[in-house]
Amino acid sequence: MNLKSIEPLLQVKDLSAGYAGSQVLFDVSMSISSGEVLALLGRNGMGKSTFIRSLFGLTTYMGGSIKFRDQSIAQQASFKVARAGLGWVPEGRQIFATLTVEENLMASFKRFSSISRIWHLSDIYELFPRLAERKSHYGNQLSGGEQQMLAIGRALLTQPALLVLDEATEGLAPLIRREIWSTLLKLKGTELAVLIVDRDLKSLSKLADTFLVLEKGQIVHQGLGLELYTDKERIEKYMSV
Ligand SMILES: Nc1ncnc2c1ncn2[C@@H]1O[C@H](COP(=O)(O)OP(=O)(O)O)[C@@H](O)[C@H]1O
Ligand SMILES: [Mg+2]
Repeated sequence: MNLKSIEPLLQVKDLSAGYAGSQVLFDVSMSISSGEVLALLGRNGMGKSTFIRSLFGLTTYMGGSIKFRDQSIAQQASFKVARAGLGWVPEGRQIFATLTVEENLMASFKRFSSISRIWHLSDIYELFPRLAERKSHYGNQLSGGEQQMLAIGRALLTQPALLVLDEATEGLAPLIRREIWSTLLKLKGTELAVLIVDRDLKSLSKLADTFLVLEKGQIVHQGLGLELYTDKERIEKYMSV
């Protein structure tokens, strides 16, 4: 076996972080390998988004290390983290309302990739035919589902080695949710690694290789994706209020 392939892509050790004066994450350690889909679970307010924001240097750093490939990315500016190969689909999508779908996509297009695959505009239209139909529409004319597809397309065009999705299916109609899940399944089994926050355990069980549960900023449980199905009741207890 090639030694390089078993080295984790992202390795976080004892990460503590939060917001000025209030610590949210306590010694969080985790890793993701190339091609792995990892689900990050936990109730509202447990620190999932804070963990993701910490990867992008957007929280107050309080200790620990974040390594992406051979590079330390702790406390780095977001654009540098993105350049290192992390693509982010943030909570709330954050697309440009006054740019068209195509302009939104092209605004994030990067010509170079650190993995073998390069995403082009045409690949995104193939993945989400609805975006091709809407390519001249402005961001603010899109439905919630279309905005989410656009946010995913934009993240892919940054040519990430790790795609990070925070509550991507939240608040969407069932049909659109299903479309997003089936698109994510298409991305699985490629070199792309995925870190996904969502509360739909059933859909996650088909997608995730591994999962972690955060409670009050600490990892309290972890396992294989399959357990999200076979051990659903126990894991649901971590998710309910
Ligand atoms: N910008 C912020 N400033 C201060 N506290 C915050 C901020 N954002 C989130 N928090 C607090 O951090 C904790 C974790 O929130 P968050 O990471 O958003 O949880 P989750 O994504 O798991 O729902 C919560 O107690 C929340 O109130
Ligand atoms: Mg959140």
